[in-house]
Amino acid sequence: MIIDVLTEKVAAAFAGAGYEVTASVSLSDRPDLCQFQSNNAFAAAKAYHKAPFIVADEVAAILSKDPMFAEVQGVKPGFVNITLTDEAIAAFADELSADPAKGVPADGGETIVMDYGGPNVAKPLHIGHLRSAIIGQSLKLIARRMGNKVYSDIHLGDWGLQIGLVIAELSERMPQYTCFGEYHEGDELPALTADMLNEVYPAASARSKTDEAFAAKAHAATADLQDRRPGYIALWKEIMRVSCADLRANYDALGVDFDYWYGESDADAYIPELMDILESKGLAYESEGAIVVDVAEESDKAPIPPVIVRKSDGSSIYATTDLAALIQRMRDFSPDKVWYVVDNRQEQHFTQVFRCARKAGIVPESTATEFLGFGTMNGTDGKPYKTREGGVMRLSDMISQVVTAARERMDEQGRAAEADRDETARRIGMAAIKFGDLINHRAKDYIFDIDKFLSAEGKTGVYILYTVSRINSILRRAAENGASASGKLTVTSDSERALMLALITSGRAWELAFSERAPSYICEDVYQLAAAFSRFYHDVRILDEEDPAVRASRLALCSLTRDIITDHLDALGIKTVEMM
Ligand code: ARG
Repeated sequence: MIIDVLTEKVAAAFAGAGYEVTASVSLSDRPDLCQFQSNNAFAAAKAYHKAPFIVADEVAAILSKDPMFAEVQGVKPGFVNITLTDEAIAAFADELSADPAKGVPADGGETIVMDYGGPNVAKPLHIGHLRSAIIGQSLKLIARRMGNKVYSDIHLGDWGLQIGLVIAELSERMPQYTCFGEYHEGDELPALTADMLNEVYPAASARSKTDEAFAAKAHAATADLQDRRPGYIALWKEIMRVSCADLRANYDALGVDFDYWYGESDADAYIPELMDILESKGLAYESEGAIVVDVAEESDKAPIPPVIVRKSDGSSIYATTDLAALIQRMRDFSPDKVWYVVDNRQEQHFTQVFRCARKAGIVPESTATEFLGFGTMNGTDGKPYKTREGGVMRLSDMISQVVTAARERMDEQGRAAEADRDETARRIGMAAIKFGDLINHRAKDYIFDIDKFLSAEGKTGVYILYTVSRINSILRRAAENGASASGKLTVTSDSERALMLALITSGRAWELAFSERAPSYICEDVYQLAAAFSRFYHDVRILDEEDPAVRASRLALCSLTRDIITDHLDALGIKTVEMM
């Protein structure tokens, strides 16, 4: 990559001037002055007791002799400013066109287990699950593209109180079924549907908050289920069948997938082993009838309470299944990293789980457990996004709102009759939602604003799709005219130079996205690419350029830009449309 080539040259120049320093080169902070810069003269000056600008001047003098550079200058207080020749820029861009990896560094080589699902069986997906799904899916695609092996696991919430609540509620509504009593293999179970569960769960949950006897019944049902009471297991399987089909359809619509559909219930098999480890290491002790493990550390600023691994009624809870799942994940995948893409508000839970796992030796020193928290999606009023009635918004409702708005805009543009109108509207809507989310650093809260997300201007998915479709139409017309789009690249204008520079340095965005576990860098970069393309498009002639060599170069640049932008969009899980 270009930055690597420059770094080598700068390192050699420092060495040539007699300074031993680690060299680094970055994109210029002042694009009006130069394209790249090195700030290493400051460190060298310190080590060799000189003024930084003297060192910078010496290094610049050496680099100036290299024909790759149009200009290299030492500037006060001690920067080395670097500008490439147009020939060098075009040569790097040609290299990028021929590179099968399209400039993406792919030397990863780590094994990563990812947890970015966490939907709860029997409850509809709500918008809280949107962020983990799209951030997680994108991080997975980025990590894979960069040469890592990733196993994704949905980690269904299928073994907790929500199932107990549903069982308790159904037992009162349909007491005639034997699953609630003396159940025998083959007995009839109530016929469930996703819609029914979507009504039963909220009703049961609301009731448990005011009706103590009912709450106790739900807790008892949870414990009995975990004890494998046959009728409850049979009913639970039916709930799973109906609910998982619904969840699958929802994730499919989002373009999000998982390699494994394990749930908390699968972790259950590892709980006896977990309890053995915790006991034999003397970590677990009884407290108010529950079994807990201390995880506080001296350096904690806020107190971290002990983690509860078994409740007083004998049931296992959230932390228990997460710890047990870690035993399974280490055994099955031996990962270097385990990534959890979960709401920031669960950070303490994961601190407890990770510390306990480390103390117990479930996770070795060589494996890092990482909590990749995300912020809240707020409405335009700055408060967590809600339905008009103030309830939690269902994910499917939110998606159809945006897709409907996208379709209305298409109709306004007179496109109501297009054959693939619905699919186009769906893609535009999904691009709007995903880009609107991913452009924000994952840890930050953001405002969900349909009008802004669907705008054709600014940092939006729609603007990027618009850019791709514009390039498509240029290349389509070029093909119709028989014009070649495979020319050698040359720089004949400022906007071409700027676009090529943006293209050849875009590998940096992948490195940042991976190292910070934040797809926002890919979003920002793809926006910069699209904006550089728009300036180029408005600035120069392409199809009607008279010089055939210049025309071919510009068409080749269009095609390269489309490839690199599409590559970025792939990693964001965003599909393009042929026409906008
Ligand atoms: N089911 C949880 C929830 O809806 C999220 C699970 C996150 N992943 C995990 N391994 N705990 O809040």
